[in-house]
Amino acid sequence: MLGNSIQVCPSILSADFRRLEDEVKRVEDAGADRIHCDVMDGHFVPNLTFGPMVVETVKKCVNIPLDVHLMISNPADYIANYSDAGADVLSFHAEAVDDPAALLDEIRSCNVKSAIAVNPDKPVELFMPFLDRIDQVLIMTVFAGFGGQKFIADTTAKMKAVAEAAKKLAHSVEIQVDGGINAETPEVCAANGATVFVAGSYVFGGENYRERIANVRAAAQRGLQKSSQVS
Ligand code: DX5
Ligand code: ZN
Repeated sequence: MLGNSIQVCPSILSADFRRLEDEVKRVEDAGADRIHCDVMDGHFVPNLTFGPMVVETVKKCVNIPLDVHLMISNPADYIANYSDAGADVLSFHAEAVDDPAALLDEIRSCNVKSAIAVNPDKPVELFMPFLDRIDQVLIMTVFAGFGGQKFIADTTAKMKAVAEAAKKLAHSVEIQVDGGINAETPEVCAANGATVFVAGSYVFGGENYRERIANVRAAAQRGLQKSSQVS
């Protein structure tokens, strides 16, 4: 499931919840690689979304993996809930916990891919010492909390730093980006090492989901090509 190919993950935050089943099936049919589920608690971030019941419901609707992004203050208390609900990849914010390495191990022990997220103002040093215990790093390209925000370009330096550190360790880690991803922004992210692209408002904001997903992938592929030309 995790590899070097480009992965596009529509975020259901921007889906029409009146017909959630239809929405997730439509993006799956349109070529999505994963469904991204944004869990917010009204405390770690001001916004409030949904919990494991919705994740479990989405799991029943699609066959592609679920990428669950926890924007909550106490992720350690809920790992089992989201693992049981069907998360295939589970990310929490490094800045939300005292011992991120232990939590990463716990996620892996549930047979779920371990992922760690950082907001734009938080350094990658929060998790670099134990990068080898991480399956996916989520570099937030907006501040966590809301869909539809503008991409913050200087976050690409963090993508590059993680990609270089992983290369040195010969450790395969996915670099995921989330926030303001559209038909253009994936290019610079992929050129700096990102391979997993979360897109909410861009994908669900259009009529043709297939075209929108393909546009994200094409922009990422342009960036990947550029990076392979320089390396
Ligand atoms: C923001 C969430 C994102 C959100 C992205 O806190 O983590 O996953 O859905 O929305 P867009 O793609 O609209 O920036
Ligand atoms: Zn997210």
